[in-house]
Amino acid sequence: MDYLTLNTGKQVPVLGFGTYEIPPQATEAAVTAALSAGYRSIDTAQYYNNEAEVGTAIRKANLQRANVFITTKAATTGYEATREGIDQSLRTAGLDYFDLMIIHWPMGDSLGTYRALEEAMRAGKLKQIGLSNFNIRQTKEILTNFATIPAVDQIETHLFLQQTKMHQFLTANHIVHEAWSPLIEGPRTLAQQPVLAKLSKKYQKTPIQIVLRFLTQNQIMTIPRSVNPDHIRQNFDIFDFKLTDEEMQQIMQLDRHQSAVGWPSAMAEDE
Ligand SMILES: NC(=O)c1ccc[n+]([C@@H]2O[C@H](COP(=O)([O-])OP(=O)(O)OC[C@H]3O[C@@H](n4cnc5c(N)ncnc54)[C@H](OP(=O)(O)O)[C@@H]3O)[C@@H](O)[C@H]2O)c1
Repeated sequence: MDYLTLNTGKQVPVLGFGTYEIPPQATEAAVTAALSAGYRSIDTAQYYNNEAEVGTAIRKANLQRANVFITTKAATTGYEATREGIDQSLRTAGLDYFDLMIIHWPMGDSLGTYRALEEAMRAGKLKQIGLSNFNIRQTKEILTNFATIPAVDQIETHLFLQQTKMHQFLTANHIVHEAWSPLIEGPRTLAQQPVLAKLSKKYQKTPIQIVLRFLTQNQIMTIPRSVNPDHIRQNFDIFDFKLTDEEMQQIMQLDRHQSAVGWPSAMAEDE
């Protein structure tokens, strides 16, 4: 496993496990499989309705709490609702603290939302706070108004939307670029890319593993999701090879600056 260092000094695994669209009844098994495979960073959200099952899987795994990095996301807007939401999420997940809580997407009163996150961080309920789906303009508004620099901005990032402009902006501002939906093109589309097919053969890895290696080697925190234990293990098995600079460049050429979902539309300002 490789690690990234957040602006708080905290080391975080560059590869984590996503849980969007995993139904509550399947979440405990999926997260348990991920922890068994070696993942130590788990991404959930209030919106996913599976914070409780993520918490259960982590408790049952009997790992030291300090060795697991747990992210959740505020689906609230404004100070009061977010303050209550943080406490509710802690109760739901059965945790004393989250390692990271991020604003799920910019909506309404983002400044009030961030103020509640910052206050909860000072109270020890959140170790780090950050953003998701914030474009440059929206991130600058946070930077201008708060002393706490967001630890991450979690944004749609994959082969066809590599977000190089956002990456440069975030890196220059000491914010880690985190990728959501890193595999959204699906295995078939990826296998059709000659560059990936060639690298897949050379390294004896699947095209998906090549993409995950590419993203993480670019210092992007990446959180693929799967409910299939074989996929969960394969996605983690990307730390025994390294792409050359030339190969990294070849993969960069595949960028289409194209969102797969077109959401939130404000992100298009930076493409
Ligand atoms: N902040 C946000 O607004 C936001 C938005 C979207 C997502 N996210 C986060 O980012 C995480 C990842 O994004 P995502 O869940 O949208 O999608 P993803 O991780 O890009 O792709 C998941 C899909 O890929 C398949 N897959 C995974 N590994 C595979 C493998 N080795 N071989 C073949 N197929 C494979 C999965 O199917 P199987 O289950 O069958 O393997 C699933 O259908 C989410 O779970 C969530 O935590 C955040």
